[in-house]
Amino acid sequence: MKTVSVINFKGGVGKTTLTANLGAYAASKGYRVLLIDLDPQNNLTFNFMTRAEWESKLSQNKTIKNFFEPVVEGKELPSLRPLIVKKTFGDVRLDLITSHINLIGIDIKLSNLLGGDDEKVIAENYMKTISCLKPALSTLEYQYDLVLIDCPVNFNFTVKSALYASDYYIAPTKLDAMSSEGIYLLGRLIDSCRDECREYINKLEGSSYTPLSLKMLGVVPMMAHVSKGKTLIDAELGFFHKLEADYEVFPQFVRDNTTIFGAELKDKFGNVVPAVLAYSGVLGGLSMKAKIIAELQLLCDQILGRMGLSKG
Ligand SMILES: Nc1ncnc2c1ncn2[C@@H]1O[C@H](COP(=O)(O)OP(=O)(O)OP(=O)(O)O)[C@@H](O)[C@H]1O
Ligand SMILES: [Mg+2]
Repeated sequence: MKTVSVINFKGGVGKTTLTANLGAYAASKGYRVLLIDLDPQNNLTFNFMTRAEWESKLSQNKTIKNFFEPVVEGKELPSLRPLIVKKTFGDVRLDLITSHINLIGIDIKLSNLLGGDDEKVIAENYMKTISCLKPALSTLEYQYDLVLIDCPVNFNFTVKSALYASDYYIAPTKLDAMSSEGIYLLGRLIDSCRDECREYINKLEGSSYTPLSLKMLGVVPMMAHVSKGKTLIDAELGFFHKLEADYEVFPQFVRDNTTIFGAELKDKFGNVVPAVLAYSGVLGGLSMKAKIIAELQLLCDQILGRMGLSKG
């Protein structure tokens, strides 16, 4: 099982769009996929169902908030299993844990668990809190090939717990100077979190906590303006190559196209689905839609390949 956090400190750069489409594509290839919506905005969830369905069937007791609540209350670490929603879209099966707006309050309460009277207590509280999600995901090790976590735009403790539980992080981005700075900042913050964990673990002699071990899988160029010509894309990517840090930028990009990516989409059964499932019927054609979906699939193959998952 590979666990991947999809994260960037800039809003509206395509994190949720990438998570939904990559997850759906991997599921369509037969991988066993679990998506976790960690953003209180719940946008990932609404790529796979209507708000009405979520409100009536899930909002009360089947969201990621229901995992973190017992953690905040200091109760025994809960299981994720009762929170998993199984979705089927034709032949494609995919599991999802939805989010909730009240996750914001939970994040504040998680931060309140930190601190303490002496440095060992501080270290223990920090490691106990950051590591809450990892063992819960580990119990799903043989149930899934891929877990994707859609992160919100902050560095609060729910996000840190996702990073701690992840093998990789992937950073979707728009192609501009500000976004490249955002990625640089993200790398710095993850490094400082890694240092913090190491420091605290050193203070807890004999503890079984492991260090933060996730690696950057790569930067994904989203919303690229291809109509301006390939040359400009190369120039835009130059922003990323100018940075000191050594980022792997995926060769394939996702084009800017509000028809394909901007609206609520449905498959032929009437289910709410992301673009890669909604437009699977156009593949093989010569239209711009077919081209964009084929590019999206190629990108997904590149991402899955880089994490060591690849099927024909
Ligand atoms: N390639 C694209 N072309 C055009 N519009 C896109 C594309 N990808 C995503 N969008 C649209 O841009 C908006 C932001 O995308 P998305 O929600 O995926 O970003 P995000 O980084 O998850 O945002 P947030 O920071 O709010 O979580 C959405 O309305 C989405 O439908
Ligand atoms: Mg989002």
